[in-house]
Amino acid sequence: MIATSLSINKVEKSKVSELDFDNIPFGRAFTDHIYIADYANGQWSDFRIEPFANFSIHPANIAWHYGQAIFEGMKATKSINGEPMLFRPEMHAKRINRSAVRMSMPEFPEDAFKEAVYEMVKLEQNWIPEKEGSALYIRPYMIAMDEFIGVQVAQSYRFVIFCCPVGPYYSKALKLKAETKFIRAAQGGTGYAKAAGNYAGSLYPTKLAKDEGFDQILWLDAKEFKYAQEVGTMNIFFVIDDTVITPSTDDGTILEGITRNSLIAILKEKNIKIEERPITIEEIMQAGKNGSLKEVFGAGTAAVIATVKAIGYNDDMVSVNPDEFKIAPMLKDTLNGIRSTRLEDTFGWTVKVV
Ligand code: COI
Repeated sequence: MIATSLSINKVEKSKVSELDFDNIPFGRAFTDHIYIADYANGQWSDFRIEPFANFSIHPANIAWHYGQAIFEGMKATKSINGEPMLFRPEMHAKRINRSAVRMSMPEFPEDAFKEAVYEMVKLEQNWIPEKEGSALYIRPYMIAMDEFIGVQVAQSYRFVIFCCPVGPYYSKALKLKAETKFIRAAQGGTGYAKAAGNYAGSLYPTKLAKDEGFDQILWLDAKEFKYAQEVGTMNIFFVIDDTVITPSTDDGTILEGITRNSLIAILKEKNIKIEERPITIEEIMQAGKNGSLKEVFGAGTAAVIATVKAIGYNDDMVSVNPDEFKIAPMLKDTLNGIRSTRLEDTFGWTVKVV
């Protein structure tokens, strides 16, 4: 796979032997190398993989003031035979460019993106945890690099990829607060983009929710506080009676999750009823009260599938019992099974790195 004039400068000695694979802190252990490409004069150049190290940034870097910063999150796993594999890299290559367009940033060529993650995973394959459910988390991101004060589209950018071996993101079932004061995304806003600012804006309301004893926020729509959108770090699914329901992404306020997309495909293949549609918090609470709400779970690259045990809405609370969930564990098993080659990848989602 040759898309760019990629230069590779390998470390002399890997740090991988220092990692305790049985106790991997999520997002805090970094592999040996970093990928960098720079954009100036209307084009990307200087595609390189280097030993992982700090890089210096001008104090007036425009991204820190006006927020031109986007990212992706994807995972590499190992097959039963020990071959490294990527999961749906083309979807991530396309999504970062949808984010780039929305934030007025240059697109990163899809071929260069795929080459970059491919070469990074090839180089870092010894860092991929072998335990099913663990993975090498790959974090591509792009930031503006102009040294300037003034709100305008930057002329220079940096695209970076680093990798972290990770275990599960959430270790227990979550209690969600349906948020009735703060919003995550409004129609016409940046909700569908994986833009850094979307996450920054969620931190304060999430802190308040945590102070009240919740784990995460279930965001509601910005206009009426009526329709469920997504959870802080993932898309959301509800099982009511025998139908799985997930909010539709048509209005541009919800991240088009690649795990979300994969779960929908698995459900369809298994002939389980799946509806992508607006779902009101009233419908969810009512289903919780009359016993038809069977399961609630979040889905995302980091989280994979995270079960939810309760949802609070104003002074009301409904609970479900994750020990009785049937669909969420089946989906998790299928996804992890495809990612480890324990199950056949009938969808063609995994790409071997050889
Ligand atoms: C992911 O699921 O990969 C994300 O990017 C969410 C992040 C906040 C951990």
